[in-house]
Amino acid sequence: MLVPVIVLVATLLVLVVIYVLDDALGTLQERIGQPRKSGLNWSKRLVWLLLALVIAQFFAPTTLFSPKPPPAEPLPQAATFTADSLWSGADTTRLVFFDGEREELVRYGRELIKNTARYIGPNGTVMRNTNALNCQNCHLEAGTKPWGNNYGAVWSTYPKFRARSGANETVVKRVNDCVERSLNGTALDSTGREMKAIIAYMEWLGTGIDKGAKPKGSGIVELAFMDRAADPKRGAEVFEAKCASCHGKDGQGMLKADSLTQLYPPLWGPLSYNSGAGLYRLSRFAGYAKANMPQGATYLAPQLTDEEAWDVAAYVNSQPRPRKDLTDDWPDISKKPVDHPFGPYADKFTEQQHKYGPFDAIAANNKKP
Ligand code: HEC
Ligand code: HEC
Repeated sequence: MLVPVIVLVATLLVLVVIYVLDDALGTLQERIGQPRKSGLNWSKRLVWLLLALVIAQFFAPTTLFSPKPPPAEPLPQAATFTADSLWSGADTTRLVFFDGEREELVRYGRELIKNTARYIGPNGTVMRNTNALNCQNCHLEAGTKPWGNNYGAVWSTYPKFRARSGANETVVKRVNDCVERSLNGTALDSTGREMKAIIAYMEWLGTGIDKGAKPKGSGIVELAFMDRAADPKRGAEVFEAKCASCHGKDGQGMLKADSLTQLYPPLWGPLSYNSGAGLYRLSRFAGYAKANMPQGATYLAPQLTDEEAWDVAAYVNSQPRPRKDLTDDWPDISKKPVDHPFGPYADKFTEQQHKYGPFDAIAANNKKP
C-alpha cells in the first residue's frame, strides 16, 4: 500500500511543478511582449493520465497484478526415485513441513535405524538389549538404498500374512522380528518411544507409495540358484580376499572409538545375528552381498560373481553364532522356503541340502502338485 501512495504523491507534485513552470513561462512571455501560449500541453496530459492510472489502481481488485499463488507443496513424505525409477527413499529436507513433534519422532526413528547400538545395543544409552548391529548395517542408507534391503515396500504391504509365524504381521511385529533375530534382542515395547519412532519413520518412508505396491529395487535381489551346492571352502577364499580387510579375519569387525557402535559390523560370533535371522538363509545373504558388498558395491556395479556371493554366504553361515529357539516358526512346514536350514520338512531333502543347496531340485519338488 505504501508504494502506490508514494507514487500518487509524487505524481501530484510533478503536476504542480508543471503548472508552476507553465505559469512562469507565460509570465516571462508576457514580459518580453509575446503572446502567452503554453508549451507544456503534452506533458500536462501525460501526467494527468498517469494520475488517473495511479488513482484507478486503488480501486482495481487486489489480485489483478499480484502473481498467482505458487502450486501447493507436495506432501512432506513424497517418495523419490532414481533415474531408472528405482525407489530411493524420501527427502529428509521435507521433514520440516511436519509439526515439531512429528518431525522429531521421524528424525529419532531414522537415527535409531542408523545408530541402533548406540541407543539399545550392548552399551546402549536408552537400554541394553540388542547386539552390536545397527538396522542400517543390513538396511543400507537408513533403509533407502536400491536393492540394499530397503524399506520401500514396508508401509505399503503390511500388515500381511507371513508363513514364518503363520499369522498376520503388523509393522511393529515385523520390526520386532528383526530385533529378536537380526539384532538378537528382546522385542521392543510397542508403546515405547523407540518403537513409536521407528514406526513413524516407516510410515514417513512409505506414504506416497500405493497400498499393496512394491516399488522397484526394494528388498534383496534374487540370485539364480547354482547347479551345485554352495561351498564354504571356496567361500573362505572369497572371504580372505574380499571381506576380511574390513570385517576382520575372525569376522568380528571393528568397534568405533566411541565403543558404542561398529565401524565394521561382525559377521558371526556372539555379537552377530542369530540362527533365526533372514541373513542366515543363504539366498538372503547371497543376494544382499551381491548388490552391496564389499562396501561400495551396488546392484549396477557389483564386485562379486554370483558364485562368489553364494560361496561366501556358505562360509559365513557355517561359523558359530547365537542360536534362537525356532520351534514356533513355520507352523505349516510345507511353506518353508527351500533354503530354510532347519527341519522337519515336508520333503525328503536333508538339512544339509536345505542349507547349502543345490536348491533347484528342492524348488522343482515343491512346485509339484
Ligand atoms: C543382520 C541383518 C539385519 C539387521 C541388523 C536388521 N535386519 Fe531387518 N531384515 C533383514 C533381512 C535379511 C530381512 C528380510 C529381507 C527379505 O526377505 O527380502 C529383513 C526384513 C525387515 C523388514 C521387512 C521388510 C519387508 O519389505 O518385508 C523390516 C520392517 C525390518 N527388517 C526392519 C528392521 C529394523 C527396524 C531393524 C533394526 C531394529 C532391522 N530390520 C535390522 C536383515 C536385518
Ligand atoms: C571396505 C570395507 C568392507 C568390505 C571389504 C566388506 N564389507 Fe561388509 N560391511 C561393511 C560395512 C561398513 C557394513 C555396514 C554397512 C552400513 O552400515 O552402511 C557392512 C555390512 C555387511 C553385512 C551386514 C551386517 C552384518 O554384519 O551382518 C554383511 C552380511 C556383510 N557386510 C558381508 C560382507 C561380505 C560377505 C564381504 C566380502 C564379500 C564384505 N562384507 C566386505 C564394510 C565392508
